[in-house]
Amino acid sequence: MKRESFGGRFAVLVAMVGSAVGLGNLWRFPYLVGRNGGAAFIIVYLVIALIICLPIMLSEEIIGRRSESNVYGAFRKLAPKSKWNIVGIISLITPILIMSFYCVVGGWIIYYLMQSCTFHLVHGGATDPDMFGKLATRTWTPMIYAFIFLFLTGFIISRGVQKGIEKYSKFLMPLLFFCTLGIAIYSMTLPGSSEGLRFLFKPDFSKLSLNAIFEALGQAFFSLSLGSGLVITYSSYIKKNESLVYTAFSTSIMDTIFALLAGMAIMPAVFAFGMEPSQGPSLIFITIPLIFAKMATGPIVAVIFFFVVFVAAITSSISLLEIVTSFACDQYGWSRKNAVIIITSLVVLPLMVICSLSTGVLSNFTIFGKNIFDLFDYVSANVCMILCALAFVIFVGWKLKYESVEDELSNHGSLRISPALIKTLFFLIKWVAPIAITAIIAMNFM
Ligand code: PHE
Repeated sequence: MKRESFGGRFAVLVAMVGSAVGLGNLWRFPYLVGRNGGAAFIIVYLVIALIICLPIMLSEEIIGRRSESNVYGAFRKLAPKSKWNIVGIISLITPILIMSFYCVVGGWIIYYLMQSCTFHLVHGGATDPDMFGKLATRTWTPMIYAFIFLFLTGFIISRGVQKGIEKYSKFLMPLLFFCTLGIAIYSMTLPGSSEGLRFLFKPDFSKLSLNAIFEALGQAFFSLSLGSGLVITYSSYIKKNESLVYTAFSTSIMDTIFALLAGMAIMPAVFAFGMEPSQGPSLIFITIPLIFAKMATGPIVAVIFFFVVFVAAITSSISLLEIVTSFACDQYGWSRKNAVIIITSLVVLPLMVICSLSTGVLSNFTIFGKNIFDLFDYVSANVCMILCALAFVIFVGWKLKYESVEDELSNHGSLRISPALIKTLFFLIKWVAPIAITAIIAMNFM
Protein backbone atom coordinates (compact mmCIF):
# COMPACT_ATOMS: atom_id res chain seq x y z
CA MET A 1 0.00 0.00 0.00
CA LYS A 2 1.43 3.39 -1.00
CA ARG A 3 2.04 5.67 1.97
CA GLU A 4 0.05 8.90 1.91
CA SER A 5 1.65 12.34 1.87
CA PHE A 6 0.66 15.97 2.35
CA GLY A 7 -0.23 17.82 -0.87
CA GLY A 8 2.29 20.63 -0.55
CA ARG A 9 4.10 23.19 1.54
CA PHE A 10 0.98 24.99 2.79
CA ALA A 11 -0.64 21.71 3.78
CA VAL A 12 2.40 20.70 5.84
CA LEU A 13 2.46 24.07 7.56
CA VAL A 14 -1.24 24.18 8.49
CA ALA A 15 -1.16 20.61 9.73
CA MET A 16 1.93 21.22 11.88
CA VAL A 17 0.60 24.52 13.20
CA GLY A 18 -2.78 22.87 13.75
CA SER A 19 -1.14 20.39 16.04
CA ALA A 20 1.01 22.96 17.78
CA VAL A 21 -1.68 25.54 18.44
CA GLY A 22 -3.93 24.13 21.12
CA LEU A 23 -4.87 24.45 24.74
CA GLY A 24 -1.22 25.10 25.60
CA ASN A 25 -1.32 28.40 23.71
CA LEU A 26 -4.70 29.46 24.97
CA TRP A 27 -4.79 28.58 28.60
CA ARG A 28 -1.19 28.33 29.78
CA PHE A 29 1.07 30.59 27.80
CA PRO A 30 -0.60 33.95 28.64
CA TYR A 31 -0.63 33.17 32.35
CA LEU A 32 2.94 31.85 32.48
CA VAL A 33 4.16 34.97 30.71
CA GLY A 34 2.33 37.33 33.01
CA ARG A 35 3.36 35.58 36.20
CA ASN A 36 7.00 35.05 35.28
CA GLY A 37 8.09 38.52 34.31
CA GLY A 38 6.33 39.38 31.03
CA ALA A 39 8.73 40.24 28.24
CA ALA A 40 11.60 38.77 30.29
CA PHE A 41 9.87 35.37 30.14
CA ILE A 42 9.10 35.82 26.45
CA ILE A 43 12.82 36.35 25.77
CA VAL A 44 13.71 33.15 27.66
CA TYR A 45 10.96 31.33 25.81
CA LEU A 46 12.28 32.51 22.44
CA VAL A 47 15.85 31.50 23.29
CA ILE A 48 14.62 28.06 24.35
CA ALA A 49 12.55 27.81 21.15
CA LEU A 50 15.59 28.65 19.05
CA ILE A 51 18.39 26.70 20.67
CA ILE A 52 16.51 23.75 22.12
CA CYS A 53 13.18 23.34 20.35
CA LEU A 54 14.28 24.06 16.81
CA PRO A 55 16.98 21.35 16.88
CA ILE A 56 14.48 18.90 18.38
CA MET A 57 11.91 19.69 15.73
CA LEU A 58 14.50 19.29 12.98
CA SER A 59 15.65 15.99 14.50
CA GLU A 60 12.10 14.67 14.56
CA GLU A 61 11.57 15.83 10.98
CA ILE A 62 14.74 14.09 9.88
CA ILE A 63 13.76 10.84 11.61
CA GLY A 64 10.24 10.98 10.17
CA ARG A 65 10.97 11.85 6.59
CA ARG A 66 14.06 9.71 6.29
CA SER A 67 12.28 6.62 7.55
CA GLU A 68 8.87 7.42 6.00
CA SER A 69 7.47 5.60 8.97
CA ASN A 70 5.55 5.99 12.24
CA VAL A 71 7.40 6.67 15.53
CA TYR A 72 8.01 3.03 16.34
CA GLY A 73 8.77 1.90 12.78
CA ALA A 74 11.13 4.84 12.30
CA PHE A 75 13.58 3.59 14.92
CA ARG A 76 13.30 0.01 13.68
CA LYS A 77 14.13 1.18 10.17
CA LEU A 78 16.91 3.62 11.00
CA ALA A 79 18.49 1.57 13.79
CA PRO A 80 17.55 -2.06 13.17
CA LYS A 81 18.13 -4.61 15.93
CA SER A 82 18.93 -1.95 18.49
CA LYS A 83 17.26 -0.85 21.70
CA TRP A 84 16.24 2.46 20.15
CA ASN A 85 12.75 1.17 19.44
CA ILE A 86 12.04 1.51 23.18
CA VAL A 87 12.01 5.26 22.53
CA GLY A 88 9.42 4.59 19.84
CA ILE A 89 7.26 2.70 22.31
CA ILE A 90 7.40 5.46 24.93
CA SER A 91 6.53 7.93 22.19
CA LEU A 92 3.33 5.99 21.62
CA ILE A 93 2.32 6.19 25.27
CA THR A 94 2.62 10.00 25.37
CA PRO A 95 -0.12 10.82 22.81
CA ILE A 96 -2.46 8.29 24.42
CA LEU A 97 -2.04 9.95 27.83
CA ILE A 98 -2.53 13.41 26.36
CA MET A 99 -5.57 12.35 24.32
CA SER A 100 -7.26 10.94 27.40
CA PHE A 101 -7.48 14.31 29.13
CA TYR A 102 -7.60 16.39 25.95
CA CYS A 103 -10.89 14.72 24.98
CA VAL A 104 -12.37 15.49 28.39
CA VAL A 105 -11.48 19.15 27.92
CA GLY A 106 -12.74 18.93 24.32
CA GLY A 107 -16.05 17.71 25.74
CA TRP A 108 -16.28 20.64 28.16
CA ILE A 109 -15.56 22.97 25.23
CA ILE A 110 -18.37 21.50 23.13
CA TYR A 111 -20.72 21.84 26.10
CA TYR A 112 -19.78 25.51 26.55
CA LEU A 113 -20.00 26.15 22.81
CA MET A 114 -23.52 24.76 22.79
CA GLN A 115 -24.49 26.73 25.87
CA SER A 116 -23.16 29.86 24.12
CA CYS A 117 -24.99 29.16 20.86
CA THR A 118 -28.29 28.70 22.68
CA PHE A 119 -27.57 31.82 24.79
CA HIS A 120 -27.68 29.84 28.00
CA LEU A 121 -24.10 30.63 29.02
CA VAL A 122 -24.70 34.35 29.27
CA HIS A 123 -28.15 35.81 29.52
CA GLY A 124 -29.52 38.94 31.09
CA GLY A 125 -25.97 40.10 31.86
CA ALA A 126 -25.25 37.11 34.09
CA THR A 127 -23.67 33.68 33.99
CA ASP A 128 -23.76 30.85 36.48
CA PRO A 129 -20.30 30.96 38.12
CA ASP A 130 -20.87 27.41 39.27
CA MET A 131 -21.61 26.02 35.84
CA PHE A 132 -18.17 24.52 35.45
CA GLY A 133 -18.09 22.98 38.91
CA LYS A 134 -21.45 21.38 38.26
CA LEU A 135 -20.41 20.08 34.85
CA ALA A 136 -17.02 18.65 35.81
CA THR A 137 -18.32 16.81 38.83
CA ARG A 138 -21.24 15.19 37.02
CA THR A 139 -20.79 11.63 35.80
CA TRP A 140 -22.55 11.19 32.47
CA THR A 141 -22.82 14.61 30.85
CA PRO A 142 -19.08 15.36 30.57
CA MET A 143 -18.45 11.81 29.44
CA ILE A 144 -20.99 12.04 26.63
CA TYR A 145 -19.54 15.33 25.40
CA ALA A 146 -15.99 13.93 25.60
CA PHE A 147 -17.20 11.01 23.54
CA ILE A 148 -18.59 13.40 20.89
CA PHE A 149 -15.21 15.13 20.76
CA LEU A 150 -13.41 11.79 20.41
CA PHE A 151 -15.84 10.73 17.71
CA LEU A 152 -15.21 13.92 15.68
CA THR A 153 -11.46 13.40 16.04
CA GLY A 154 -11.76 9.80 14.89
CA PHE A 155 -13.97 10.80 11.97
CA ILE A 156 -11.39 13.26 10.60
CA ILE A 157 -8.50 10.84 11.07
CA SER A 158 -10.34 7.96 9.43
CA ARG A 159 -10.65 10.11 6.26
CA GLY A 160 -6.88 10.01 5.78
CA VAL A 161 -3.97 12.42 5.49
CA GLN A 162 -5.06 14.53 2.51
CA LYS A 163 -8.83 14.14 2.75
CA GLY A 164 -8.84 14.37 6.54
CA ILE A 165 -6.00 16.16 8.33
CA GLU A 166 -5.01 18.37 5.40
CA LYS A 167 -8.49 19.29 4.22
CA TYR A 168 -9.75 20.28 7.66
CA SER A 169 -6.56 22.08 8.72
CA LYS A 170 -6.48 24.17 5.51
CA PHE A 171 -9.93 25.44 6.26
CA LEU A 172 -9.86 25.65 10.06
CA MET A 173 -6.43 27.15 10.73
CA PRO A 174 -6.85 30.40 8.75
CA LEU A 175 -10.32 30.75 10.30
CA LEU A 176 -8.81 30.25 13.75
CA PHE A 177 -6.20 32.89 13.06
CA PHE A 178 -8.66 35.57 11.95
CA CYS A 179 -11.11 34.87 14.78
CA THR A 180 -8.32 35.09 17.38
CA LEU A 181 -7.02 38.27 15.76
CA GLY A 182 -10.53 39.74 15.84
CA ILE A 183 -10.98 38.97 19.54
CA ALA A 184 -7.51 40.37 20.32
CA ILE A 185 -8.27 43.66 18.58
CA TYR A 186 -11.62 43.91 20.34
CA SER A 187 -10.13 43.03 23.70
CA MET A 188 -7.37 45.62 23.39
CA THR A 189 -9.86 48.39 22.67
CA LEU A 190 -11.80 47.80 25.90
CA PRO A 191 -11.37 50.60 28.47
CA GLY A 192 -8.80 49.57 31.07
CA SER A 193 -7.26 46.91 28.86
CA SER A 194 -3.78 48.42 28.96
CA GLU A 195 -3.22 46.91 32.40
CA GLY A 196 -3.51 43.50 30.76
CA LEU A 197 -0.92 44.38 28.16
CA ARG A 198 1.38 45.58 30.92
CA PHE A 199 0.89 42.26 32.76
CA LEU A 200 1.86 40.44 29.57
CA PHE A 201 4.70 42.48 28.21
CA LYS A 202 6.32 44.62 30.94
CA PRO A 203 9.74 43.03 31.47
CA ASP A 204 10.51 42.11 35.06
CA PHE A 205 13.71 40.10 35.30
CA SER A 206 13.38 39.71 39.07
CA LYS A 207 10.49 37.28 38.51
CA LEU A 208 12.56 35.03 36.26
CA SER A 209 13.27 32.16 38.65
CA LEU A 210 14.91 28.84 37.80
CA ASN A 211 11.50 27.32 38.04
CA ALA A 212 10.27 29.79 35.43
CA ILE A 213 12.94 28.53 33.03
CA PHE A 214 11.84 24.95 33.60
CA GLU A 215 8.24 26.00 33.03
CA ALA A 216 9.25 27.73 29.81
CA LEU A 217 10.89 24.52 28.63
CA GLY A 218 7.86 22.37 29.47
CA GLN A 219 5.54 24.89 27.88
CA ALA A 220 7.60 25.12 24.69
CA PHE A 221 7.67 21.33 24.35
CA PHE A 222 3.97 20.91 24.94
CA SER A 223 3.04 23.82 22.73
CA LEU A 224 5.24 22.76 19.82
CA SER A 225 4.08 19.13 20.23
CA LEU A 226 7.71 18.04 20.63
CA GLY A 227 8.82 14.73 22.10
CA SER A 228 5.43 13.17 21.46
CA GLY A 229 6.29 11.61 18.12
CA LEU A 230 3.92 13.99 16.37
CA VAL A 231 6.57 15.73 14.32
CA ILE A 232 8.06 12.36 13.35
CA THR A 233 4.65 11.13 12.23
CA TYR A 234 3.63 14.23 10.26
CA SER A 235 7.11 14.50 8.72
CA SER A 236 6.79 10.99 7.36
CA TYR A 237 4.10 12.49 5.09
CA ILE A 238 6.30 15.39 3.90
CA LYS A 239 7.40 15.02 0.29
CA LYS A 240 11.09 14.65 -0.47
CA ASN A 241 11.27 18.03 -2.23
CA GLU A 242 9.94 20.14 0.67
CA SER A 243 12.36 22.06 2.88
CA LEU A 244 12.50 20.76 6.45
CA VAL A 245 14.28 23.85 7.73
CA TYR A 246 11.52 26.07 6.35
CA THR A 247 8.83 23.91 7.96
CA ALA A 248 10.53 23.87 11.35
CA PHE A 249 11.13 27.63 11.40
CA SER A 250 7.70 28.60 10.19
CA THR A 251 5.87 26.21 12.53
CA SER A 252 7.76 27.54 15.56
CA ILE A 253 7.19 31.16 14.56
CA MET A 254 3.49 30.66 13.84
CA ASP A 255 2.94 28.84 17.12
CA THR A 256 4.60 31.63 19.09
CA ILE A 257 2.60 34.28 17.22
CA PHE A 258 -0.60 32.41 18.06
CA ALA A 259 0.38 32.16 21.72
CA LEU A 260 1.08 35.90 21.93
CA LEU A 261 -2.15 36.66 20.10
CA ALA A 262 -4.06 34.48 22.55
CA GLY A 263 -2.45 36.46 25.37
CA MET A 264 -3.54 39.72 23.74
CA ALA A 265 -7.06 38.36 23.31
CA ILE A 266 -7.44 37.15 26.88
CA MET A 267 -5.42 39.26 29.32
CA PRO A 268 -6.58 42.78 28.32
CA ALA A 269 -10.20 41.66 28.82
CA VAL A 270 -9.35 39.97 32.14
CA PHE A 271 -7.90 43.23 33.48
CA ALA A 272 -10.47 45.50 31.84
CA PHE A 273 -13.16 43.74 33.86
CA GLY A 274 -11.14 43.60 37.08
CA MET A 275 -10.68 39.80 37.14
CA GLU A 276 -7.74 37.88 38.56
CA PRO A 277 -5.55 36.34 35.84
CA SER A 278 -5.51 32.55 36.04
CA GLN A 279 -4.69 29.53 33.90
CA GLY A 280 -6.09 26.19 32.84
CA PRO A 281 -9.75 25.21 33.04
CA SER A 282 -10.58 27.94 35.55
CA LEU A 283 -9.43 30.63 33.08
CA ILE A 284 -11.44 29.32 30.13
CA PHE A 285 -14.52 28.00 31.88
CA ILE A 286 -14.94 30.33 34.88
CA THR A 287 -13.09 33.64 34.50
CA ILE A 288 -13.84 34.21 30.82
CA PRO A 289 -17.60 33.49 31.03
CA LEU A 290 -17.76 35.99 33.91
CA ILE A 291 -16.20 38.55 31.59
CA PHE A 292 -18.71 37.76 28.85
CA ALA A 293 -21.50 38.32 31.33
CA LYS A 294 -20.25 41.86 31.92
CA MET A 295 -19.87 42.70 28.22
CA ALA A 296 -22.76 44.08 26.23
CA THR A 297 -21.59 41.98 23.29
CA GLY A 298 -20.82 39.02 25.57
CA PRO A 299 -23.28 36.47 24.14
CA ILE A 300 -21.87 36.88 20.61
CA VAL A 301 -18.21 37.03 21.64
CA ALA A 302 -18.76 33.88 23.70
CA VAL A 303 -19.81 31.94 20.59
CA ILE A 304 -16.73 33.07 18.64
CA PHE A 305 -14.44 32.46 21.60
CA PHE A 306 -15.58 28.91 22.29
CA PHE A 307 -15.46 28.18 18.59
CA VAL A 308 -11.80 29.31 18.60
CA VAL A 309 -11.02 27.08 21.57
CA PHE A 310 -12.80 24.18 19.91
CA VAL A 311 -10.86 24.51 16.64
CA ALA A 312 -7.55 24.85 18.46
CA ALA A 313 -8.33 21.71 20.47
CA ILE A 314 -9.63 19.51 17.68
CA THR A 315 -6.71 20.16 15.32
CA SER A 316 -4.35 19.15 18.13
CA SER A 317 -6.45 16.17 19.02
CA ILE A 318 -6.44 14.80 15.46
CA SER A 319 -2.66 15.05 15.44
CA LEU A 320 -2.48 13.03 18.65
CA LEU A 321 -4.69 10.29 17.27
CA GLU A 322 -2.72 10.22 14.03
CA ILE A 323 0.50 9.28 15.87
CA VAL A 324 -1.04 6.04 17.09
CA THR A 325 -3.15 5.39 13.98
CA SER A 326 -0.16 5.64 11.69
CA PHE A 327 1.66 3.13 13.93
CA ALA A 328 -1.22 0.65 13.75
CA CYS A 329 -1.61 0.99 9.98
CA ASP A 330 2.14 0.67 9.27
CA GLN A 331 3.01 -2.06 11.71
CA TYR A 332 -0.08 -4.24 11.56
CA GLY A 333 -1.38 -3.36 8.10
CA TRP A 334 -4.79 -2.40 9.49
CA SER A 335 -7.02 -0.16 7.42
CA ARG A 336 -7.26 3.39 8.69
CA LYS A 337 -10.90 3.02 9.66
CA ASN A 338 -10.30 -0.17 11.63
CA ALA A 339 -7.24 1.30 13.30
CA VAL A 340 -9.22 4.35 14.41
CA ILE A 341 -12.12 2.27 15.71
CA ILE A 342 -9.88 -0.12 17.64
CA ILE A 343 -7.60 2.56 19.13
CA THR A 344 -10.36 4.94 20.15
CA SER A 345 -12.68 2.32 21.61
CA LEU A 346 -10.20 -0.02 23.27
CA VAL A 347 -7.44 2.34 24.33
CA VAL A 348 -8.50 5.98 24.47
CA LEU A 349 -12.11 5.58 25.57
CA PRO A 350 -11.44 3.70 28.84
CA LEU A 351 -8.67 6.12 29.84
CA MET A 352 -10.83 9.07 28.85
CA VAL A 353 -13.64 7.78 31.06
CA ILE A 354 -11.24 7.53 34.02
CA CYS A 355 -9.98 11.07 33.38
CA SER A 356 -13.51 12.37 33.14
CA LEU A 357 -14.53 10.71 36.40
CA SER A 358 -11.36 11.90 38.11
CA THR A 359 -12.74 15.44 38.29
CA GLY A 360 -15.94 14.08 39.85
CA VAL A 361 -16.65 10.84 41.69
CA LEU A 362 -13.02 9.68 41.50
CA SER A 363 -11.53 12.99 42.64
CA ASN A 364 -10.40 11.46 45.91
CA PHE A 365 -8.36 8.84 44.13
CA THR A 366 -4.93 10.42 43.87
CA ILE A 367 -1.41 9.31 43.00
CA PHE A 368 1.45 11.52 44.21
CA GLY A 369 -1.24 13.95 45.34
CA LYS A 370 -2.68 14.34 41.86
CA ASN A 371 -5.94 13.09 40.43
CA ILE A 372 -5.69 11.02 37.23
CA PHE A 373 -6.44 13.99 34.97
CA ASP A 374 -3.62 16.07 36.46
CA LEU A 375 -1.31 13.07 36.66
CA PHE A 376 -1.64 12.33 32.93
CA ASP A 377 -1.06 16.00 32.16
CA TYR A 378 2.02 16.14 34.38
CA VAL A 379 3.61 12.85 33.32
CA SER A 380 3.11 13.45 29.61
CA ALA A 381 4.42 17.02 29.52
CA ASN A 382 7.08 16.95 32.22
CA VAL A 383 8.41 13.42 31.95
CA CYS A 384 7.65 11.58 28.70
CA MET A 385 7.95 14.48 26.25
CA ILE A 386 11.18 15.82 27.73
CA LEU A 387 12.86 12.41 27.89
CA CYS A 388 11.77 11.44 24.37
CA ALA A 389 12.88 14.78 22.97
CA LEU A 390 16.27 14.25 24.58
CA ALA A 391 16.44 10.79 23.02
CA PHE A 392 15.48 12.15 19.57
CA VAL A 393 18.29 14.72 19.46
CA ILE A 394 20.83 12.22 20.76
CA PHE A 395 19.69 9.74 18.12
CA VAL A 396 20.11 12.19 15.26
CA GLY A 397 23.28 13.84 16.56
CA TRP A 398 25.13 10.71 17.63
CA LYS A 399 23.62 7.77 15.78
CA LEU A 400 22.52 9.15 12.38
CA LYS A 401 25.47 11.54 12.21
CA TYR A 402 26.24 14.56 10.06
CA GLU A 403 25.89 13.01 6.60
CA SER A 404 22.25 12.01 7.14
CA VAL A 405 21.41 15.42 8.56
CA GLU A 406 23.05 17.18 5.61
CA ASP A 407 21.31 14.83 3.22
CA GLU A 408 17.84 15.48 4.66
CA LEU A 409 18.18 19.21 5.22
CA SER A 410 19.48 19.77 1.68
CA ASN A 411 17.09 17.24 0.08
CA HIS A 412 19.99 15.09 -1.14
CA GLY A 413 21.88 18.16 -2.29
CA SER A 414 19.09 19.49 -4.52
CA LEU A 415 18.13 22.36 -2.21
CA ARG A 416 20.29 25.46 -2.04
CA ILE A 417 21.04 25.78 1.63
CA SER A 418 24.15 27.26 3.16
CA PRO A 419 26.59 24.63 4.47
CA ALA A 420 27.31 26.94 7.42
CA LEU A 421 23.63 26.84 8.38
CA ILE A 422 23.58 23.05 8.26
CA LYS A 423 26.75 22.91 10.37
CA THR A 424 25.25 25.29 12.93
CA LEU A 425 22.01 23.32 13.11
CA PHE A 426 23.93 20.08 13.49
CA PHE A 427 25.98 21.59 16.29
CA LEU A 428 22.75 22.60 18.04
CA ILE A 429 21.37 19.07 17.59
CA LYS A 430 24.49 17.24 18.69
CA TRP A 431 25.69 19.40 21.56
CA VAL A 432 23.62 22.37 22.57
CA ALA A 433 20.13 20.84 22.80
CA PRO A 434 21.07 17.67 24.73
CA ILE A 435 23.29 19.55 27.17
CA ALA A 436 20.75 22.31 27.69
CA ILE A 437 17.88 19.86 28.29
CA THR A 438 19.96 17.80 30.72
CA ALA A 439 21.13 20.91 32.55
CA ILE A 440 17.63 22.29 32.95
CA ILE A 441 16.33 18.94 34.23
CA ALA A 442 19.26 18.63 36.64
CA MET A 443 18.83 22.18 37.94
CA ASN A 444 15.18 21.53 38.50
CA PHE A 445 15.94 18.42 40.55
CA MET A 446 18.44 20.31 42.70
N1 PHE B 1 0.59 21.35 21.11
C1 PHE B 1 -0.69 21.04 21.65
C2 PHE B 1 -1.16 22.21 22.53
O1 PHE B 1 -0.53 23.20 22.64
C3 PHE B 1 -0.71 19.75 22.42
C4 PHE B 1 -0.08 18.59 21.74
C5 PHE B 1 1.02 17.96 22.31
C6 PHE B 1 -0.55 18.13 20.51
C7 PHE B 1 1.64 16.90 21.67
C8 PHE B 1 0.07 17.06 19.86
C9 PHE B 1 1.17 16.44 20.47
O2 PHE B 1 -2.17 22.14 23.14
